[in-house]
Amino acid sequence: MTGAGVSAESGVPTFRGQGGLWQGRRAEDVATPQAFQRDPEGVWEFYNYRREKLLACKPNAGHAAIAALEAVFDDWTLITQNVDGLHRQAGSRNIVELHGNIWTTRCTACCQEFDHFGDKLSRRPTCNDCGGLLRPGVVWFGEMLPPDALAAAQDAVGRCQAILVVGTSSVVEPAASMAGWARAHGALVVEINLERTPLSEQADECLFGKAGEILPRLVSALKARKSDPSQ
Ligand code: OAD
Repeated sequence: MTGAGVSAESGVPTFRGQGGLWQGRRAEDVATPQAFQRDPEGVWEFYNYRREKLLACKPNAGHAAIAALEAVFDDWTLITQNVDGLHRQAGSRNIVELHGNIWTTRCTACCQEFDHFGDKLSRRPTCNDCGGLLRPGVVWFGEMLPPDALAAAQDAVGRCQAILVVGTSSVVEPAASMAGWARAHGALVVEINLERTPLSEQADECLFGKAGEILPRLVSALKARKSDPSQ
């Protein structure tokens, strides 16, 4: 499971800690249904700014290593809280996007979803089919997670033998509880982060450092072990 820390080395600001600001604004002030109702153009300005910045960001060694892990394990699910799409760009395929994807939109009238990767959208984009106002295809503060994504994440966590939790402050629910659910049925919990988090206490292993440095080493070690189980 990943969080914003995985994309930090690609130049994507995290939410908390140093540099946790977008356009000088706290995400909590803009990324809410209330803010969109009050000022849709202001919210779209914020998301268009983020989308434009993201276009210049490329997947980093951490994303690439996570994509490589999918080939190492027979059964692998990537659960991400990130909306930036960088995991997919890096080659990950079995992805559960818990908080949606910033490159998608959803019509507030007819609920259709659209893919707008790389498109420049206006400050008031509308649905091609019904003319309704589009909203970013992400989960805002105070909203429910997409039921399909939540069910897929619960399924993967419920049957996993190990969970690797990378670059998340482990404070936003329900993602923050998932490692605990895995641990409750005996899964190994490994955390990779720059610093301790509320999860660190419960983790079997904490690897402190940059995801883009630790993950490639982990992939090499796992690949070596797969080709020679005596290692
Ligand atoms: P946060 O910004 O809360 O946490 C980022 C974590 O990444 C911190 O614990 C950092 O220590 C760690 N970190 C930073 N750089 C790192 C690196 N190079 N390698 C490893 N770790 C690093 O981000 P999230 O936990 O993802 O939700 O935030 C969760 C949710 O809060 C987001 O998805 C978003 C936000 O509100 C919504 O928008 C719904």
